[in-house]
Amino acid sequence: MKITTKINLITTAWILFMLLAVNAVVYFSFMKITVNMEDGELFQKANYLINEINKEDSPAVIKEKLTPYLTNQSFIRIVQPNSKIVNQVTNAPKLAAKIKPQFAVEKGTQRQTIRQKHGEEQMAIVRVPIQSKGQVVGTLEFGEKLVGLETGKELLLSILAFCTILGAVLSLLGGRWLSNLIMKPISNMINTMEDIEQSGVPKKIIIQHETKDELQKLAVTFNRMIDKLEANLEKQRQFISDASHELKTPLTVIKSYADLLLRRGLKNEVVAHDAIESIHSEATRIQKMTERFLDLADTESRNHLETKFIHLVSLCENLFKQLKSAYKREINLHYEDPDISVFADEGKLKQAIIILIDNAIKYSTDTIDVYLKDKEQLTSITVKDYGIGIPAREIENVFERFYRVDKARSRETGGTGLGLSIAKNIMKQHQGEIIVKSSEGVGTEVELFLPKQKGKFLSD
Ligand SMILES: Nc1ncnc2c1ncn2[C@@H]1O[C@H](COP(=O)(O)OP(=O)(O)OP(=O)(O)O)[C@@H](O)[C@H]1O
Ligand SMILES: [Mg+2]
Repeated sequence: MKITTKINLITTAWILFMLLAVNAVVYFSFMKITVNMEDGELFQKANYLINEINKEDSPAVIKEKLTPYLTNQSFIRIVQPNSKIVNQVTNAPKLAAKIKPQFAVEKGTQRQTIRQKHGEEQMAIVRVPIQSKGQVVGTLEFGEKLVGLETGKELLLSILAFCTILGAVLSLLGGRWLSNLIMKPISNMINTMEDIEQSGVPKKIIIQHETKDELQKLAVTFNRMIDKLEANLEKQRQFISDASHELKTPLTVIKSYADLLLRRGLKNEVVAHDAIESIHSEATRIQKMTERFLDLADTESRNHLETKFIHLVSLCENLFKQLKSAYKREINLHYEDPDISVFADEGKLKQAIIILIDNAIKYSTDTIDVYLKDKEQLTSITVKDYGIGIPAREIENVFERFYRVDKARSRETGGTGLGLSIAKNIMKQHQGEIIVKSSEGVGTEVELFLPKQKGKFLSD
């Protein structure tokens, strides 16, 4: 069932229910008030009459006294203690005959429904005792057809029925208007989403009116999501283009040396040796590059970390031992507290530290200092070298993918320009931060900040 139909049906059913409840209250209140009023009036008349007739004794005179009090379709009679009528005046003998006379020692009212050929008639009867010398000698019965009540009831019922039908129609129309109001932006969104599904191209929802309601919020959130998606797609496109560009150079070199080998064969041993060496070095470069691509993809897409408490000093000591023997470089570890520990993914953290040490090794020749500091809310790992440094205007770019300050030099050192991007991603995954401070010709200091407790320290 469509949402509009549902809204329509539910609102109409609810309004109908409310109207019926209100109608019932109005109807019953009206009946009660009217009946009470009529009873009151009858009592008043009866009391007055009793005062009048007690003075007279002759039945003929009594009748004469009673007659003027007759209203349309009523009777007045005096009933003896043995329930016999002594005196009766009426202008509705048929009705009067249907009401049994009753002797009553106390005041009382009675409501009686009389079935007639053309329908039912409601009669109101009041009984007032007639007293003489402290004794109840008879009862004055005053009966009257409730004409006002009948006509009032019919009128009220027709007004209520009309109002209920009008209410139901208005609620149906209102429900339709309301559901259209709600559904229009939703249909708009559905159309846009279907468009995106069919064309595969991200598209934004057009917000026509600033309604500042939840639906506009939904559209704005959707548009923001599309913005992010577009940015990611653009990033992906850029990455593919940059990566192919990066791969193109070594592949061209490999192809040209392979061509050379094909043309000249292995006759000239020196040329052949040079060619094979170059092919090997470029292939190694491609291999390194693809490994970096995979690392980048891994740190960018997966947010899953295998975190645990890591003893930082032993991690660094073990790592530097391997690096020192591999690169034959001096790496000094400095720390005050030998028990510093961090809550992190060991593999990823190692990867980030290796990236920094690798840069320090590539872009400096002197010793490398590594400082471990334990602060109140965070732990920092600083890798400091005394090498070529980075020009101040370039510092902000070094985290961009494939960015290298000196492309020619990077080719020599085999850099792909992805190391710092990967390190930044790793820090982001840990909700940490990476900061580069550098002075051209003096050296570079790269700091990794890790929050003490997960979530306490947020990057950018
Ligand atoms: N310690 C440093 N000293 C001087 N320049 C640096 C240092 N670290 C990074 N850079 C500069 O920043 C650039 C980006 O560094 P990044 O580590 O991202 O890439 P890379 O070292 O060129 O390649 P990769 O690390 O992927 O092998 C480097 O090319 C280099 O120009
Ligand atoms: Mg690097």
